[in-house]
Amino acid sequence: MGTPFVQFLGPSNLEGYNRKRQPSEQPATIPKTFLDAMEVREQVFVKEQNIPLENEFDADDARSCHWVAYASINTTVEPEVTDEDGNIVRRKQSVTRSTPIGTIRLVPFPHAAHPEPGSAYTLDAPEAVSGPPPYIIDRPTTFHDGKEPYLKLGRIAVLKEFRGSGIARLLADSAITWARQNPTFFNPSIAVVGMENLGAKSVDDVPVWKGLMCVHAQEQVAKVWAKWGFELDEGMGSWYEEGIKHVGMFRRVDIGNTTRQ
Ligand SMILES: CC(C)(COP(=O)(O)OP(=O)(O)OC[C@H]1O[C@@H](n2cnc3c(N)ncnc32)[C@H](O)[C@@H]1OP(=O)(O)O)[C@@H](O)C(=O)NCCC(=O)NCCS
Repeated sequence: MGTPFVQFLGPSNLEGYNRKRQPSEQPATIPKTFLDAMEVREQVFVKEQNIPLENEFDADDARSCHWVAYASINTTVEPEVTDEDGNIVRRKQSVTRSTPIGTIRLVPFPHAAHPEPGSAYTLDAPEAVSGPPPYIIDRPTTFHDGKEPYLKLGRIAVLKEFRGSGIARLLADSAITWARQNPTFFNPSIAVVGMENLGAKSVDDVPVWKGLMCVHAQEQVAKVWAKWGFELDEGMGSWYEEGIKHVGMFRRVDIGNTTRQ
């Protein structure tokens, strides 16, 4: 594998994406980087972890930022040919292709309520794929007061054969660094969204990102997120998504004194 590189995709129009079909069967209008992310997610979550294909794509995908890691992989397309004396008659033919090997996404606020401790649910039901959830006051947990806007990292996945070489770290670093460098990116515009839809009575109540980041981590991967500064939120408890035990974790990143765009 050559040096891996990471590609960024901002929020995009994914209209026409058919959640029951594979990435290779999607309309030509869907951004290639997103299809590459879905190829990795399908391989890891659908094939390896048995999550139904139609539950993998969800309403958050269009409004999220995505990062995809690629590796340059050299494959032999024609083997070397030698004559009976061992002389090379034709050299080996090979091609180098950039192959998607890992992905992560960053979902902006607002979010659905924190899962209830001990609950069990499936990912988005097909009929639920619509716009973002409304702004709500959530139950307070150890690190979240129920009100502060947070960004949610998730769907981190690296193809099995590329694990253990820092690809997930590269992806998490890319997303966290981007968020720190673009702290106002997801702050809503009062003019576009309207105060009432922001759950705000005055300008001071308008949601502004202050550096809080969350993950819903598969329990066995919590130690990986802990390496990147995320702390287990005891108050959030644990719950099951698609039969896999999950926990909530938070990290606060320093974004200085940034305010609205
Ligand atoms: C979790 C996953 C993304 C890690 O990918 P990866 O590319 O192998 O991770 P990295 O090589 O960047 O490792 C990052 C750090 O976590 C550690 N780590 C990786 N996987 C680990 C595991 N299963 N248990 C404990 N530590 C682990 C590494 O040792 C490394 O630590 P270091 O930086 O101190 O050396 C990958 O195993 C995966 O795709 N799993 C299946 C999908 C999944 O469960 N996603 C998580 C949903 S919350």
